Amino acid sequence: MSNDGVNAGRRRFLVAATSVVGAAGAVGAAVPFVGSWFPSAKAKAAGAPVKVNIGKIEPGQQMVAEWRGQPVFIVRRTQEILGNLEKIAGQVADPESKASVQPTYVDPKSRSIKPEILVLVGICTHLGCSPSFRPEVAPADLGAQWVGGYFCPCHGSRYDLAGRVYKSQPAPLNLPVPPHSYESDDIIVVGVDQEKA
Ligand code: FES
Repeated sequence: MSNDGVNAGRRRFLVAATSVVGAAGAVGAAVPFVGSWFPSAKAKAAGAPVKVNIGKIEPGQQMVAEWRGQPVFIVRRTQEILGNLEKIAGQVADPESKASVQPTYVDPKSRSIKPEILVLVGICTHLGCSPSFRPEVAPADLGAQWVGGYFCPCHGSRYDLAGRVYKSQPAPLNLPVPPHSYESDDIIVVGVDQEKA
């Protein structure tokens, strides 16, 4: 009898303890929902447009901005670079970006609003590494045919200076062109479409 009494007491204790854990679990499960109803200021800032001053980019050089946690490559292209884009159009997989991500208001060939300013999301379309900017012509490691572009260090994908991927690379698509617009000659807003600016 006395054992039954002890066991009954233990059962009551265990039931009570389980109920408390259950209640704590329920509160814990509710927290993510509350969080999603009220996005934090940090989350809002992470998705916000980014203004970038491009005035100091030298011809042929690149600066890297950040938008939505991603690198954004901005290049000031020279006439020579623009001329090379025409010459290598037959070597790239999607020369007019018909399958690749770019806004409708950029020129299909130069992939830009102004030919001399290229804006790209700097994430390889293969498995997401960030390609290296390699603007030099015919460097030893990239070969005599190289006219400047991007080289992905992870699996070797090659892109030109319009972010167009060469044929037969691991990467299937061109580097994306993000939505962007000009607030002035020197200020680009990444994340705001040109028409809506
Ligand atoms: S991630 Fe760039 S080639 Fe694989």
